[in-house]
Amino acid sequence: MTLYASELAARDLAVVWHPCTQMHDHETLPMLPIARAEGAWLYGHDGRRWLDAVSSWWTCLLGHRHPRVVAALKDQLDRIDHVMLAGFTHEPAIQLAEELVRIAPRGGRKAGASRLPPLPHEPSSVGAASAAIDVPPTLTRVFYADNGSSAIEVALKLSFHYWRNLGRGERTRFIALTGGYHGETLGALSVTDVALYRHTYAPLLLEPIFAPSPDAYEAAPGESAAACAQRRLGELRAILECHAHESCAVIVEPLVQCAGGMRMHDASYLTGLRALCDEFDLHLIADEIAVGFGRTGTLFACEQGGIVPDFLCLSKGLTGGTLPLSAVLTTTRVYDAFYAEYSAGKAFLHSHSYTGNPIACRAALATLAVLRDEPVLERNRALAAHLDTRLAPLVDHPHVADVRRTGMIAAIELAKDKRTREPFPAAERRGLRVYRHGLANGMLLRPLGNVVYFMPPYCITPEEIDRMVEVAAEGIDVALR
Ligand SMILES: Cc1ncc(COP(=O)(O)O)c(C=O)c1O
Repeated sequence: MTLYASELAARDLAVVWHPCTQMHDHETLPMLPIARAEGAWLYGHDGRRWLDAVSSWWTCLLGHRHPRVVAALKDQLDRIDHVMLAGFTHEPAIQLAEELVRIAPRGGRKAGASRLPPLPHEPSSVGAASAAIDVPPTLTRVFYADNGSSAIEVALKLSFHYWRNLGRGERTRFIALTGGYHGETLGALSVTDVALYRHTYAPLLLEPIFAPSPDAYEAAPGESAAACAQRRLGELRAILECHAHESCAVIVEPLVQCAGGMRMHDASYLTGLRALCDEFDLHLIADEIAVGFGRTGTLFACEQGGIVPDFLCLSKGLTGGTLPLSAVLTTTRVYDAFYAEYSAGKAFLHSHSYTGNPIACRAALATLAVLRDEPVLERNRALAAHLDTRLAPLVDHPHVADVRRTGMIAAIELAKDKRTREPFPAAERRGLRVYRHGLANGMLLRPLGNVVYFMPPYCITPEEIDRMVEVAAEGIDVALR
């Protein structure tokens, strides 16, 4: 490290308390001050650089400092910095809500459209999801918040409050999936089932009902992902028969349970889940905070199940990874349940100071414009196919129990015993060894326990993918020594 970089690291460790970190680790793990970011790369103050293979916690969608996003931010700064969104509004919040309603899943979209539908005044481009536009939107209202966890809080509260406004106050519980992650504020943590984050705070949390995840890694021997999904739907049905009367909603991370270890499931689970929610008259909350905006190969993961949720939670990639912003999309039916004379006491009196910040909304509009104007999702398909070829040899590794991919998310599951899938004990911190190896070799990998994963920015090149997988594979060997 250069003198200045080490000085910054020391100053940081004297005053900053870092997220998701045992600060004691930094007695041996160097703190890395970043000076600049460009495309897929982070540049350190010490002259080194790292490929951001995890898109900085899955936020940096297109690549760091995408020129169109940066230009929009600069332009917006000369107009309005911020204005409270109660009683006031602004063009970016309006336009973004219009655009989100326009592109949100409609149930009729054919999975596989390679671009966003064109704006009404634009000629339709090849591969655009024009079919979707023929179906009227079901998600017609946008409630803004300012980060992913807040969006989950909004969705949970809206669902509960909806039933209460309808005179169904006995509906107080939520149904969540095992292995799911929805954030770390108390409501979001309540519906999260990752022990590392939940265990300590359990006495403070709501008590949801956890239904078994359709995670294909946990399929029975010889059982296909689709068969596993059907079996899990059967188990969910049994839970709903007992608990639907006291429940508000089922919450799900569509297609990939990310923080729970990049566990993936068959899209038919979503289709069946929607049908069950309809049958038992429950809301369906789709948390696409991590998987939205093309991560799973379609603009929204819900499209692959052909479904429209009652609440769609979005954040992270929404602003291209530049600023915190989140949005909860919901239906006219939900909106109407809150619409009454003030004295009826039905209003949703929930707010965050930076709700719908204009600069963040402009960043989101620029990000969506790139997805609309450029064949990003099409390019991602070619990149994903390339990634598959590079990952293929790892299937035979003696300590790799699974290699899986959905869209631009890929994961390698390490196991002590490949045959029985017995995991390495968490205390051995094998993933941390991969992380250290990555940093020493110009790669930001941040394994989730025994799962080494990739969620790179969409601007990554095939050559960078080669290097990413190479460093990860070396790191796995180092971690197993
Ligand atoms: C699926 C999902 N939901 C919610 C969240 C919480 O978002 P935030 O970290 O912005 O609070 C995350 C964050 O990783 C997430 O992956």
